[in-house]
Amino acid sequence: MNFKQTKTWSQIQDYFQSIKDKNLIEFFDKKRLDYTTFDFNGIYFDFSKNYIDKKLIDLFVSLAEEIDLSRAIEEMFQGKKINFTENRAVLHTALRSQSATEIIVDNKNIIPLIHQTNKKIKRFTKKVIDGQWKGFTGKKITDIVNIGIGGSELGPKMIVRALKPYRNHLNIHYLSNIDPNQLDELSEKIDIETTLFIIVSKSFSTIETLTNAKSLQKIYHKNFIAKHFVTVSTQVEKAVEFGIAPENIFPMWDWVGGRFSLWSPAGISIPLAIGFDNFQKLLKGAYQIDEHFRKTKFKENIPFIASILSIIYNNLFEFETETYIPYTEKLKYLPDFLQQLLMESNGKSIDKQGDKVNYQTGQIVWGNIGTNAQHSFFQLLHQGTKKVPVHFIGELKNTYTSFSTQHLMLLSNMIAQAEALMKGEKNENHYKNFEGNRPSTTILFDEIKPEYLGSLIAYFEHITFLQGIFWDINSFDQFGVELGKKLAQKIYSETKEMNISNTHDPSTKFLMKKLME
Ligand code: F6P
Repeated sequence: MNFKQTKTWSQIQDYFQSIKDKNLIEFFDKKRLDYTTFDFNGIYFDFSKNYIDKKLIDLFVSLAEEIDLSRAIEEMFQGKKINFTENRAVLHTALRSQSATEIIVDNKNIIPLIHQTNKKIKRFTKKVIDGQWKGFTGKKITDIVNIGIGGSELGPKMIVRALKPYRNHLNIHYLSNIDPNQLDELSEKIDIETTLFIIVSKSFSTIETLTNAKSLQKIYHKNFIAKHFVTVSTQVEKAVEFGIAPENIFPMWDWVGGRFSLWSPAGISIPLAIGFDNFQKLLKGAYQIDEHFRKTKFKENIPFIASILSIIYNNLFEFETETYIPYTEKLKYLPDFLQQLLMESNGKSIDKQGDKVNYQTGQIVWGNIGTNAQHSFFQLLHQGTKKVPVHFIGELKNTYTSFSTQHLMLLSNMIAQAEALMKGEKNENHYKNFEGNRPSTTILFDEIKPEYLGSLIAYFEHITFLQGIFWDINSFDQFGVELGKKLAQKIYSETKEMNISNTHDPSTKFLMKKLME
């Protein structure tokens, strides 16, 4: 059942009519912060500058009851095949569980499998970090290249950057694009004697990843491949066929989606960069949010509150986009990660019954780091005709104590932007008037450390899942990426063979001819 089919939805719509023209500042009574702000083990969530109040939260709690949201949550955690279009369970939460002893998928308990794999990762990463893993000339490894794209890159890349203060001596690079420019740039940075390549591909069929991996494999004599290539995949046979030594293959499982896979061996560049113990802390932080999500009543459930805001903005206000602005260079890649997480998951228009939906689903997600964003697109956020809910994210601790004034200036900017968006400022000169009344959420970290970062990412994953339940869509497949891939193959072979078929439209033919000139 989608949200629109519930009895409560019409009550929500009615109530929405009575509050939608209210000024955000009018929501602030004495008790507002009690139910709109949360302190989660060193992460502070402030939802108060949004269009919610106690009554609307209560209504959404009723709606959640009507669609049996608690059951949907349990089904995910327990491994029901909720990715029904691919007949798969969705168990990224099992990868970080600190308490589960048994979760059965296809008659097999996956928990021992996870523990066993983690032990292998621990041994491997230690060997590389300690310098016991040697390249073909006997030298220690200095550089790691993660060859992977989408979920096999974005999460780990975001985390490895965010946890820079926890990094060891290894240089970590990410190679994703089929664009030879990226490969070219990379080759200038690495020494093949001391570089270890990790091919991360759940399907082991992603053209960008395999093409890059093949180009790099050619550099080495076949006897040396085992010293320089490891892989993470569900497709062990394909990896062996590709020339990877069986002992260098880390398993992946089809019950982990690519964009949810950073907790699995697909995230192996993370323990390589920060050590296995810190990787464990990341998992632990995610588990803490999982427990909160699973066990806390909806009124006080942080991912739940955040997810109802998506419904309010997407389906009541009908805003089209939302933006994420980290006020920390450490989280520079967070918007990229969230784009895949939210848009690949929820950019769907067929519901679980196979019918076309008659309401909006996935929001368009974008963003960039503050304060730079203030000097590019914030004009539109403050005075444009479109309203865009903003998510601010900042870190209270200043890692680089020598520049403490700058850190305070940075965070002052963040808080000021949220205030300016909400309050605006009257000016008789229309051009200089700020209407205000523009919603935002602020998330503050005490410090960006592995546990807290794990919690934050799991929080976003749960919002993604909840949106999918409200919208009654399968958040865990991604058939929408297939057609482009198929046509790219066709266009590639036809232009290579200088033989354009008649299946293409005139515009496509025109462009293909340009490639052949
Ligand atoms: O094309 C989209 C996609 O399938 C993503 O869902 C996935 O994260 C990415 O490609 C990479 O896939 P793989 O890990 O199988 O190479």
